[in-house]
Amino acid sequence: MDRLRSADWYQGSDRNAYIHRAWMRRGLPGDALDGTKPQIAIANTASDLTPCNMHLNEVAESVKQGVWAAGGVPYNLPVVSLGETQVKPTAMLWRNMAAMAMEEMFRANPIDGLVLLGGCDKTIPALLMAAASVNLPAIVVPGGPMLTGHFRGEALGCGTDVWRLSEEVRAGTITNAQFLESEQSTIRSKGHCNTMGTASTMAVVAEALGMTIPGFAGTPAADARLLKKSHETGRLIVDMVAAGRRPSDIMTRESFLNAIIAVAAVGGSTNAVVHLLAIAGRLGIELSLADFDAAGAGIPVMANLQPSGSFLMDDLHRAGGLLALLAQIADLLHPEPITVTGTPLVDSLGGHPVYDDTVILPREKPLLADAGIAVLRGNLAPRGAIVKPSAATPELLQHVGPAVVFDSVEDMRARIDDPDLDVTADSVLVLRGCGPRGYPGMPEVGNMPLPRKLLEAGVRDMVRISDARMSGTAYGTVILHVAPEAAAGGPLGLVRTGDVIRVDVAGRSLSMDVSEDELRSRSQSPASEAAYAKPGRGWAKLYVDHVMQADTGADLDFLVGSSGDEVSRESH
Ligand code: FES
Ligand code: MG
Repeated sequence: MDRLRSADWYQGSDRNAYIHRAWMRRGLPGDALDGTKPQIAIANTASDLTPCNMHLNEVAESVKQGVWAAGGVPYNLPVVSLGETQVKPTAMLWRNMAAMAMEEMFRANPIDGLVLLGGCDKTIPALLMAAASVNLPAIVVPGGPMLTGHFRGEALGCGTDVWRLSEEVRAGTITNAQFLESEQSTIRSKGHCNTMGTASTMAVVAEALGMTIPGFAGTPAADARLLKKSHETGRLIVDMVAAGRRPSDIMTRESFLNAIIAVAAVGGSTNAVVHLLAIAGRLGIELSLADFDAAGAGIPVMANLQPSGSFLMDDLHRAGGLLALLAQIADLLHPEPITVTGTPLVDSLGGHPVYDDTVILPREKPLLADAGIAVLRGNLAPRGAIVKPSAATPELLQHVGPAVVFDSVEDMRARIDDPDLDVTADSVLVLRGCGPRGYPGMPEVGNMPLPRKLLEAGVRDMVRISDARMSGTAYGTVILHVAPEAAAGGPLGLVRTGDVIRVDVAGRSLSMDVSEDELRSRSQSPASEAAYAKPGRGWAKLYVDHVMQADTGADLDFLVGSSGDEVSRESH
């Protein structure tokens, strides 16, 4: 083992080493700070206001025991936590702030290795971005999905069924009282959303990138094996420090391609796109929207999980878990990338049979033969927009219709149910002012509700286009992440109600029948600027001044790349 980074604090007989050691001696064994024991921070996103991560203090205790058992010294390090359902205006506004704060604290402290405890949507991305930028040995512990809740005898998928039931209320097929009754049973246990939403997707991403112990992702939060694997993670991080294995050794371009393939095979969230691009950006790895389209093309969706399919995360675990699923497509994965264990991911795929092939579908009978994420371009999205065909209505993937334009979420909410709104099932709903800069923070509003009068007439899907994101638990023919966004001068800001929009997913294009001359003249007097956010101070101001567009991951421009783990100067 090379000299530990923490030895810069703890080794020596001068006054500074004395200070660093003395203040930490609060019951630690005498040799814990002799400069030879790996000092492990457990970056803990537990918070009572992040309900999906509430249980992580218990998980941290198991990690601690593992670290001690392997000869390291563990420390609980509470870090910025983001609860998807609680924070306004959107948790995404602070993903980069959380990542920045974590990175700085990892570097500032006497730490040799990291265990990253995440769960709810933004927490694993922020942890991975931070770990990539500081490049200290690190392992993710995915907090795990909750157990399946039931309402009137039927399984309830978090998120997905909330969207579905609320649409049923608006369509008049169930009462609001019935809808509210279901609220009692949606959240059955500790853990994050039990659909293949963003949290489950990012656990899959962490494992496919090689950043978890293989076989960890998808272990339910309430399952005793979560604590067992957390203990093992604590042991492994100590070995990893000794071996000097760092995130940059594990997360390579090929492991990102494996993650894209895994997300496609599980029918994962569109949010994986912005998160993977941002993590890759921290490592200096070339990854672009085109890679998602190319690497995900031809990958069958084999996980029959909501929102694309029927089952929930509990069922995936029972059916054999992610490794059993990936084993079916082992030949499509890149063989080189290693995991935190030091051996290739593909080497861990043996001996994982599928126990229920209605949940993990056979490769030759998938939910959808060609999944992945389609990247559309054209005069409406010069730098790209994305759509998840597995969550869409097949007939609408090829569509021509007139635009109905909304300048903000508020504008959309105010008019969408207006009986006089000039809209038919063929219309294309366009929402702008919801990109990283315009909102700010790129909220999950792209799956905008359908007009009530169309719902009542039996319409259940329409083409929707925006510069927003969509919840990983949502579904529909929803075109997202249009770049550049309207507030950054993208042509999305120039569309007018009535313009003919052309969607051709097979041809990968998204355009409007408006001439270049007309667009040029419209750009002289953009109609919607007043709806875009203009924060004057604080984080929101820093964010809008520096946030990049969705096609490169919506990180802040000055956070791209890495500053490494260099030890700073001494102040005492
Ligand atoms: Fe936390 Fe869904 S709200 S994972
Ligand atoms: Mg979500």
